[in-house]
Amino acid sequence: MVFSANTIDLARSASQCLVVGVFDGKEPELSPSAQELDTATGLQLQEILSHGDCDAEPGSALMVYQPRGIAARRILLLGLGSHDDPDDLNLRKAAAAAAKVLEKCRIRSAEFAILDTVQDDECTRQARNIVEAIEETAYLYQETKSIKQPKRRLSKVRLVASRDKLSAIRLGIKQGVAISHGVAFAKTISNLPGNICTPRYLAKQAKQLQKSHGLKTTVLDEKQMKALKMGSLLSVSRGSREPARLIIMEYSGGAEDQPPIVLVGKGLTFDAGGISIKPAAAMDEMKYDMCGGASVYGALIAASELNLPLNVVGIVPSSENLPDGAANKPGDIVTSMAGKTIEILNTDAEGRLILCDALTYAERYQPAAVVDIATLTGACIIALGHHASGLFSNCEKLAEELLAAGQAAGDRAWRLPTWNDYTRQLKSNFADLANIGGRSAGSVTAACFLQEFAQNYKWAHLDIAGTAWKSGHAKMATGRPVPLLSEFLIGRSENADA
Ligand code: BES
Ligand code: MN
Ligand code: ZN
Repeated sequence: MVFSANTIDLARSASQCLVVGVFDGKEPELSPSAQELDTATGLQLQEILSHGDCDAEPGSALMVYQPRGIAARRILLLGLGSHDDPDDLNLRKAAAAAAKVLEKCRIRSAEFAILDTVQDDECTRQARNIVEAIEETAYLYQETKSIKQPKRRLSKVRLVASRDKLSAIRLGIKQGVAISHGVAFAKTISNLPGNICTPRYLAKQAKQLQKSHGLKTTVLDEKQMKALKMGSLLSVSRGSREPARLIIMEYSGGAEDQPPIVLVGKGLTFDAGGISIKPAAAMDEMKYDMCGGASVYGALIAASELNLPLNVVGIVPSSENLPDGAANKPGDIVTSMAGKTIEILNTDAEGRLILCDALTYAERYQPAAVVDIATLTGACIIALGHHASGLFSNCEKLAEELLAAGQAAGDRAWRLPTWNDYTRQLKSNFADLANIGGRSAGSVTAACFLQEFAQNYKWAHLDIAGTAWKSGHAKMATGRPVPLLSEFLIGRSENADA
């Protein structure tokens, strides 16, 4: 897909399709660009509105054929929602709806004139939103199908705006394209089944990103992790025939002495629960237990394609969690790299066991901040459903920054506490720490467990159990929270000394 931005004369453009907005007022009302076209067509659009045929709800779209008196073949009237309450999600929904209609009508190129009411300082972000939403509709998982779907026809989208807005919009397009690449990559490795996407497969992908995106990739095998005393991580992979890997990817866009942002992503390529085995229903979805790791790949792809003046390190601890004679047993006690002993009361709480050693490993980078991303707890779905990721942090400023990034990127998170009251639930009679904290506040106690290993830097944790994929009929990875992380990194690169 090729995106561009230009100023054009709407009435004279020989476009295959001009996309313009309709707002939700008392009655649906035409946006300024739509009004311009309406005048040229001799009020053809007003007439359609007066018949009540056009809906201004975001997500609705009405194709107008053979418009009078203009050079374009078609006009697509696109619902943009309420004028007074311009919501980013509305614009995304509308852009996605337009892309779907255009594709159905086999249209190859279109001009979108839907940024005409957007404030100047919002143009970059909204152009990015539009690009991401259109790319989202184009994602196709094909990797393990023998019959491939035909390629998408819609291949050229031009964003139309006044001259003074073009450079801001072009920047938004560039960002939207880079983020979409990251999102699509994350989706694809997440959608792959556990028998293909193993820890070694993820390591291979990381090596490939060294070539394609100039990252510096290092992969530690079990022997090297043993030398580092990563007893907690290795206890999880002991029950699996696939060897664990610690995957490290470095993007160096900043000055050599600039402390990096470290992203740590859970890369559990299949979580059967171990000896505390999970019930059979929907267990296939536990191939998605590496989505946190996938989002780290995605964010690094976006950062490198945007050449952000920033240093970013991605760390992905990767393992399977299966039942086996050598697997962890409830009651087993292991020693983490940090030296803390852990009583494993439930082998299904394995994410924190592999993450804690990766968090300790992160200390060597003397990071500006560490953000870990994990499909950590089913309890997070109970708390927040599938709309927001859970956010936890030991630093107010970092938490605010991530919440704002999620809001701006249409990839929201919501904060939950990590108070000592909850950490106390992790007390063990036999070790420094138990790996579960009882039935109540499961997401919080999981985060508190991680926080114990993140005391030497500014840290945040995103629990993406409810947001990383969709279940049921539309089962598919979402690529979240790549947009949030990318927005966060873009923000950091704009105030490099924040
Ligand atoms: N990967 C799961 C969490 C999960 C479950 C994410 C379902 C998305 C959907 C994690 O490893 C896990 O099993 N957590 C347990 C923790 C419990 C044993 C304290 C859970 O949530 O049940
Ligand atoms: Mn588990
Ligand atoms: Zn898991």
